[in-house]
Amino acid sequence: MSGRVCSAAPGADGISLRAENISFHYGAGKPVLEDFSADFACGEITALTGKNGCGKTTLARIIMGILVPDSGSVKLGKEDLAGLSLAERGARIGYVMQEPSRQLFSATTAEEIRFGLDNKVKKGLMTAEEARARAEDAMKNFELEKYRDAFPLSLSAGERQRVVLAAVMALRPSFLILDEPTSSLDKKRKSALYETLLRIKEENGCGTILITHDRAFAALAADREIVMPGGGRNV
Ligand SMILES: Nc1ncnc2c1ncn2[C@@H]1O[C@H](COP(=O)(O)OP(=O)(O)OP(=O)(O)O)[C@@H](O)[C@H]1O
Ligand SMILES: [Mg+2]
Repeated sequence: MSGRVCSAAPGADGISLRAENISFHYGAGKPVLEDFSADFACGEITALTGKNGCGKTTLARIIMGILVPDSGSVKLGKEDLAGLSLAERGARIGYVMQEPSRQLFSATTAEEIRFGLDNKVKKGLMTAEEARARAEDAMKNFELEKYRDAFPLSLSAGERQRVVLAAVMALRPSFLILDEPTSSLDKKRKSALYETLLRIKEENGCGTILITHDRAFAALAADREIVMPGGGRNV
């Protein structure tokens, strides 16, 4: 799969996402990340694993631009993401938090999926017709049509996760970060998530960073694994 061209990438074909020499500490605490580097290929699912507290979620937040590293950079292909706004990063890299409910803020599923697309329309990056078509497409792909008018927070954990995934994937990101996506899913829903990730990989050529403690799911879904150092008992 490596070397595959990311059809979904906005202006960045055949790219990898690279965290380069990242160091980070919270407040007066000891460093969580020290000179950490990792490469994530497009068209591949990379499991990002490591002990509790080793900094997986912190790295995800740094990649998304929510946290600023003490040193180091995040690059998508040759593009250093430091100069981009949160929204611009979000259009390139989709992020599904461990608690997807935290990302849901709209009154209906349809509005939730339209939100990022409508922003693109406002900025003149997409026509209203294209936004409508993409939203419909996402709703169909993630089997959410019957929940179109439902209040997203009233849905089940698996459905809420699908709403966030649909909203994120509608923006056609080059990369997707999923933080502990199986933690609240039963066996059937895990299997459905696996099918979804395969589809995203095959159809969108999107690279996925799968942060997980779920060994079985990582073994099933991931093409590769990066184990982060640190964390564990003393955290
Ligand atoms: N907002 C914060 N303020 C201070 N310290 C924090 C904050 N968030 C995380 N930490 C600390 O940073 C370290 C790394 O946390 P992080 O959540 O990135 O680890 P993780 O690898 O995602 O862990 P887990 O596998 O439990 O999800 C831990 O020691 C944690 O206690
Ligand atoms: Mg975490």
